[in-house]
Amino acid sequence: MRKKIVAGNWKMNMTPAKAVELIDSLKNEINTNEVDVVVCPPFVCLPAVLEAVKGTNIQVGAQNMHFEENGAYTGEIAPSMLVELGVKYVVIGHSERRQYFAETDQTVNKKTLKALEHGLVPVVCVGESLEDRQQGVTIDLVRLQTKIALKDVTAEDAKKVVIAYEPIWAIGTGMTATSAQAEEVCAAIRQVIAEVYSQEVADEVRVQYGGSVNGGNANELFNMGNIDGGLVGGASLKPEFASIVNYK
Ligand code: G3P
Repeated sequence: MRKKIVAGNWKMNMTPAKAVELIDSLKNEINTNEVDVVVCPPFVCLPAVLEAVKGTNIQVGAQNMHFEENGAYTGEIAPSMLVELGVKYVVIGHSERRQYFAETDQTVNKKTLKALEHGLVPVVCVGESLEDRQQGVTIDLVRLQTKIALKDVTAEDAKKVVIAYEPIWAIGTGMTATSAQAEEVCAAIRQVIAEVYSQEVADEVRVQYGGSVNGGNANELFNMGNIDGGLVGGASLKPEFASIVNYK
């Protein structure tokens, strides 16, 4: 049985002080017994958030990292920096990174390998645009994105990876994918993992859905057979995040 995982991607929101307020308001409201809960604040909020979650089961993730160990990459953050702080997860290849910061399937693969090498759990984002969906290439595209992200990842490491299926047209738009649409693609992601590795690996990998998840739709989405939780944007900045985590 896969444990559900609900992660909040705060994107470029919050300051360290506001982040602590949000954690304080959430920590007594969320039930972390049956669900892994992760918050992914901006880099500058990480130390304050790591301190604020002490004594709770809330885990902390970063929203990005570089694939090199260190060096002349102005403005970038290396995996060892995150590890030393106590960060456990890292979001990789979010569609906003692909769209605005020129990330490609190849950089996503390099980052995935590097995160695993450092013991970080990569939350690898895949998903189609509205145009892709209208052209009927969603499954092919998402299969390819998943395959490339996992290239050269061993079977043992692949089991640790979280894949977040985020249709771009559903992000921040209020246009949530239907549970059937989300399930179809999450099942296809699991299928490609079974083809590349084995059914055993595919059965262990957690596949999240992301895109306008809220307190009202989390239950239906997370109860689908191949959806193991969610990657939540806007609603993770509000008390509503607690009702998403406590979706049951
Ligand atoms: O990474 C989470 C995300 O892109 C979904 O954002 O605001 O639609 O929940 P939102």
